[in-house]
Amino acid sequence: MSVEWIESWDRDAGAARVATAFAERFGGEPDGLWSAPGRVNVIGEHTDYNGGLCLPIALPHRTYVALRSRPDDVVRLASAQEPAAGLRTVRLEQVGPGTVQGWTAYAVGVAWALRAAGHDVRGFDAVVDSCVPYGAGLSSSAALECAVAVALDEVHGLGLAGDDAGRTRLVAACIRAENEIAGAPTGGMDQSASLRCRAGHALLLDCRDGSTRHIPLDLAAHDLALLVIDTRAAHQLADGQYAARRETCERAAAHLGLRTLREVDDLEAALAALTGAVDGEGGAVARRRVRHVVRENARVELVEQLLDSGAVQEIGPVLTAAHASLRDDYEVSCAELDLAVDTAIAAGALGGRMVGGGFGGSAVALVRTADLSAVATAVARAFDRQGMTAPAFLVAIADGPAGRD
Ligand code: GLA
Repeated sequence: MSVEWIESWDRDAGAARVATAFAERFGGEPDGLWSAPGRVNVIGEHTDYNGGLCLPIALPHRTYVALRSRPDDVVRLASAQEPAAGLRTVRLEQVGPGTVQGWTAYAVGVAWALRAAGHDVRGFDAVVDSCVPYGAGLSSSAALECAVAVALDEVHGLGLAGDDAGRTRLVAACIRAENEIAGAPTGGMDQSASLRCRAGHALLLDCRDGSTRHIPLDLAAHDLALLVIDTRAAHQLADGQYAARRETCERAAAHLGLRTLREVDDLEAALAALTGAVDGEGGAVARRRVRHVVRENARVELVEQLLDSGAVQEIGPVLTAAHASLRDDYEVSCAELDLAVDTAIAAGALGGRMVGGGFGGSAVALVRTADLSAVATAVARAFDRQGMTAPAFLVAIADGPAGRD
């Protein structure tokens, strides 16, 4: 059975694609070429908006942008992936929540957020192109935001991309773009990964205070690989389920008198205190959500310890435990994600779990390098037998952050 692999582009080739497309669309040269990666999270899911811990890596799959500043406040955008579509044109002065639809909102939203933060950002002409699979839960939207953010930072001389403190401010602008202009109430892990990761490292991100630690992650040195399985099952963060999870957590924290669920230090006491509260089901839903979040933070700490001590193989079962928690307590998995994880493990993976928001998108499996092909083939076969759309695969290698090409 043939298996589809999602290749990343060589960076020079990606940059050349947008440079050519820019010349065709707008004529002349752009001010520069920039790109930003998608991400996959090793562990720590649905923790970011709860002030918790997560551990993403940046993918070699990136979104590229060729951009030229304009003297006015007009933005003209084209995507090389929709060559037949016309230019999308927006005036920055008219941008606000609900005014821009589709992928344009992520790009324009960043300019809006930088202006709202007091930066003198004007209009621009830009072409984007990407090898981050769209809708796969690998943060194609954050990659677009972050590529535009580093481009605007440079053309306006903001100087933010030059150090981590500045990048953290760019993260904040990208989060506002996504939350307020695109209308997806996401938590910030994706933008932090795209702007703050380091090649060869996983980013331990503490969302309570934004602090980070770069943990070396060289799986190949252990004859291991992180196999990403794009289930191709539809996945939509703005559809209400994600927002509902977030709201339940925030209400639970408020009921417990805490700022975020990160402050829970006695899980059993917190679960008891939620009985009869927060949801219409006697607190049962809130208790499941809180249990996931608190235990997931502990799993991130465990994976940190295992990586620090070189016991890399042992993170497999921790990933599998996270999947069970996301499936049963957080209830964000789906048939395709469960099948991908269960089949990968049955075919020899050391562990696996769904990644990202859930309800579709991708799963990851920790696999011995020698077993990669067999595991991918087993998953593709299982999908075929169930009559599901064929999945696609990539091997996640920790790559570098957003920047100039
Ligand atoms: C999506 C969101 C992130 C995060 C994950 C779940 O990817 O964009 O902010 O909440 O879901 O961990």
